[in-house]
Formats: sequence, C-alpha cells, structure tokens
Amino acid sequence: MQKILRESGHLVRLALVLAAGFLIFMAVRAAIVPKSFGQYGHYRGAVLEEIRAKPISFAGRATCEVCHDEVAKTKSEGKHAGLGCEACHGPSAAHTEDPTTNHAFKPNPATLCVRCHEADRARPKTFPQVTSKDHANGMSCGDCHKPHSPKI
Ligand code: HEC
Ligand code: HEC
Ligand code: HEC
Ligand code: HEC
Repeated sequence: MQKILRESGHLVRLALVLAAGFLIFMAVRAAIVPKSFGQYGHYRGAVLEEIRAKPISFAGRATCEVCHDEVAKTKSEGKHAGLGCEACHGPSAAHTEDPTTNHAFKPNPATLCVRCHEADRARPKTFPQVTSKDHANGMSCGDCHKPHSPKI
C-alpha cells in the first residue's frame, strides 16, 4: 500500500494542482461575472432594463403614415415601397411627438441616394446600381428621380 502511494505521488500532486486551479477559476469567475448573468439566457439579465430605459429614437413607418398619408401612398406604389421612412429621414421620433417644433430631417438626394445605389461589387448583382459619375453626369439624383417613387 505504502509503495503504491509513494509511486503515485506525482499523480496526487497533479490532482492537487488541478483542484487548486479549479478553485481559483471559480473564485475569479464569481468575482467578475455580473450577478444577473444567465438569468434568462447567455447574457446579463439586467441589460433588458438598461435598454428599456433608453429614449426611443425611431418611430417606425406606421407612425409617419398616420400624418403623411400622401407620401405613404406614393411610396407604396413605387420601387421604394419596402423602405422604411427613417432609412432615409433618420431617427425621427421627436418629430412625431411635436412636428412643428421638431422639424424632420430632409435628406439631400445628391448625397443620399449613392449611399445605397453607388455601384459596388459587395452589393448583390440583382440590386439596382449606377456609377453616378457616368449616370448622373454631375446632376443631383433628385433632378430626375422622385425619392419616394424613383422609377421614372
Ligand atoms: C403627428 C403628425 C406627424 C407625424 C406622426 C409625422 N409627421 Fe412629419 N410633418 C408633420 C407636419 C405637421 C409637418 C410640417 C411641419 C413643418 O413645417 O416642419 C411635417 C413635416 C415633415 C417633413 C418635411 C420637413 C421639411 O423640412 O419640409 C418630413 C421630411 C417629415 N415630416 C417626415 C416625417 C417622418 C419620417 C415621420 C415618421 C418618423 C413623420 N414625419 C411623422 C406631421 C407629422
Ligand atoms: C429613399 C429615401 C426616402 C424614403 C424611404 C422616404 N423619403 Fe421622404 N424624402 C426623401 C428626400 C430625399 C426628400 C427631399 C426631397 C427634396 O428635397 O426634393 C424627402 C422629402 C419628404 C417630405 C417633404 C415633402 C416632400 O415631399 O418633399 C416629407 C413630408 C417626407 N419626405 C416624408 C416621408 C415619409 C412619411 C416617408 C415614409 C412613408 C418617407 N418620406 C420615405 C427621401 C425619402
Ligand atoms: C436605404 C437604401 C436606399 C436609399 C437611400 C435609396 N434607395 Fe433606391 N432603392 C432601394 C431599394 C431597396 C430598392 C428596391 C430594389 C429592388 O427592387 O430590388 C430601390 C430601388 C430604386 C430604383 C428602382 C430601380 C429599378 O429599376 O428597379 C431607383 C431608380 C432608385 N431606387 C433610385 C433612388 C434614388 C434616386 C434615391 C435617392 C433619392 C434612392 N434610390 C435612395 C434602396 C435605397
Ligand atoms: C439625367 C437624369 C438622371 C439623373 C440625374 C439620375 N438618373 Fe438614375 N436613371 C435615369 C433614367 C432615365 C433611368 C432609367 C433608364 C435606365 O435604366 O438607365 C435611371 C435609372 C436608375 C436606376 C436603375 C438602374 C437599374 O439598373 O435598374 C438607379 C438605381 C438610378 N437611376 C439611380 C440614380 C442615382 C443614385 C442618381 C444620382 C447619383 C441618379 N440615378 C441620377 C435618369 C437619371
């Protein structure tokens, strides 16, 4: 029996080192992992409250359409039907709450359209793209296209 213990001393030491490592790991983990981690899933449960407390900046297209029904109708009949208003106008929740004090942002077609339509190999081939230098020839995209229903 003693012989066995003497000969397996290195295994006992190894087991002790592993056990100590495990305890240190558990202690460090307890110290740095936030309390609410894992409450609902693999994230901090408390983060839901924190996000909910942030002010809302986007209103969503349904809200815009209540007051701007004509724009909504024009848009729904054209190629931009699928785009949300705020994809171009930017976050506009403040405007929807008090439209006359908080003016909405009116984007400039000369700089807006190329953001999505400038020819770029990274875009899907089926997505309509132009090389603005050749296509617009220095004119603003808005001189020929209507932003809410762009097909001429
Ligand atoms: C409660 C009604 C209401 C809602 C909701 C509303 N608007 Fe307006 N909007 C107005 C009114 C009124 C004006 C004209 C006010 C003014 O003179 O700027 C206006 C003007 C605008 C203008 C023109 C600004 C300019 O400089 O000429 C844009 C663009 C606009 N709204 C976009 C939006 C978008 C995008 C949304 C949705 C996020 C939205 N609106 C939601 C009432 C509304
Ligand atoms: C593809 C981008 C785009 C989308 C999507 C879009 N707009 Fe616009 N909108 C513009 C641009 C650009 C102008 C400025 C036009 C100009 O100055 O000639 C404008 C102007 C306006 C104006 C000022 C009046 C006018 O017709 O010039 C209102 C109001 C407006 N948009 C509301 C909306 C609403 C509501 C939606 C969603 C239903 C919407 N827009 C979606 C690009 C867009
Ligand atoms: C946020 C991205 C975005 C912006 C900004 C944008 N577009 Fe578009 N545009 C689209 C999408 C998405 C479509 C639909 C593509 C499809 O049907 O596959 C489209 C379709 C079009 C088409 C129809 C192409 C065809 O023949 O099917 C034209 C023309 C066009 N846009 C011009 C414009 C102009 C002009 C502006 C600036 C006023 C503009 N777009 C701004 C995303 C955008
Ligand atoms: C001088 C007028 C003119 C100007 C300025 C202009 N376009 Fe066009 N655009 C057209 C005409 C006409 C068509 C349809 C014929 C065609 O497909 O070439 C068209 C088609 C398009 C299409 C569809 C292309 C496709 O493959 O289906 C897109 C996207 C487009 N334009 C975006 C823009 C953008 C972005 C700008 C600003 C950089 C712009 N256009 C400026 C006249 C113009």
